Amino acid sequence: MAFLKNTWYVAALATEVGPVDLFHRKLLDTSVLLYRKQDGQAVAMRDRCPHRFAPLHLGKRDGDQVICGYHALKFDCSGKCTHNPHGDGRIPKAAQVQVYPLIERYGFLWIWMGDQPADESLLPDYSPLDDGPPSGIGHTYMYMKANYQLIIDNVMDLSHIDHVHGEAITTRGQLSPVVPEIRETDRSIFARWEWKQTPPILVLSHFLPDPQAEARHFFDVTWMPPANIQLSVGGAQGDTPFDQGVGAYDLHVTTPETENTTHYFFATRRNHLVDDEDFNQMKLKAMRDAFELEDGPIITGVQDEMGDEDFFDLKPVLMSNDAASVKVRRLHKRLLEAERAPVPGQASAPATPSNAEAAV
Ligand code: FES
Ligand SMILES: [Fe+2]
Repeated sequence: MAFLKNTWYVAALATEVGPVDLFHRKLLDTSVLLYRKQDGQAVAMRDRCPHRFAPLHLGKRDGDQVICGYHALKFDCSGKCTHNPHGDGRIPKAAQVQVYPLIERYGFLWIWMGDQPADESLLPDYSPLDDGPPSGIGHTYMYMKANYQLIIDNVMDLSHIDHVHGEAITTRGQLSPVVPEIRETDRSIFARWEWKQTPPILVLSHFLPDPQAEARHFFDVTWMPPANIQLSVGGAQGDTPFDQGVGAYDLHVTTPETENTTHYFFATRRNHLVDDEDFNQMKLKAMRDAFELEDGPIITGVQDEMGDEDFFDLKPVLMSNDAASVKVRRLHKRLLEAERAPVPGQASAPATPSNAEAAV
């Protein structure tokens, strides 16, 4: 499976990687070890010992270093082997673990697994997730047995809401007929829906002046590579402009585990009842339940039905509601092709010595 590589993926929620444990997760078909140094900084490296390929997370820590659980080679957090308890203790040249650049930002750990130097400027700005009291912001993790692009399709095409979701976010049939306004750049696809409904969307209605009266609503979604969608939702009544109404700023991020399994990360920040931690937890659970119990069965059902076939090869019927998700697929494909195109005049990388060659 081809994945964009020279880009930032979310490896974990910042809270998933604690001060002590060796956390591990498969990302882009590669096992990755994550842990925090004693100063709190998180680091990422291949979760595979270069000796006989034991997962390093089965080992133990020695300060900021990791000792393999099989024959006790020790590695520092630059991936360098610092101790070999066998024979004369000589450290084989190939005893080096690949490390990955990692940035902790917006409540997530972002990893760069490409072969080009990590480019921090390619990490989108989601700074609203850093503002406001913690009780107004929630982060969560889900796992889906589906290709990550099916999850992206689902969030870029919000016309499914009235057909898949229940009372909490129904638009009472108003959203499906709306053809979104779409804009694109060379690295983003944006779609916006606006509509009116009576009563308003339930999750927002109690914070509007009249919970039973008509409200204007909007959804904005902005996809950026590799698999990030910033979604804003809002509602307002009367002459109140949207920026003074009630709403939420959400982030949906997917990271492929394998071709057909995905880590699904979500964050949300609301502009109402921001000091209520109980409400925060309830809202986050409600959102998570909607994604897992309502979107989940449809998306994984689609995956099961499609198997390993390519989406476009299957010649899907395309409708007005597919415009944004199809544009994302096409832009993603262009970026992937650009990344994989050979650079003129660039020689291929020299082969690295194998462990066996280096040991003798
Ligand atoms: S597999 Fe790690 S030291 Fe042998
Ligand atoms: Fe949904």
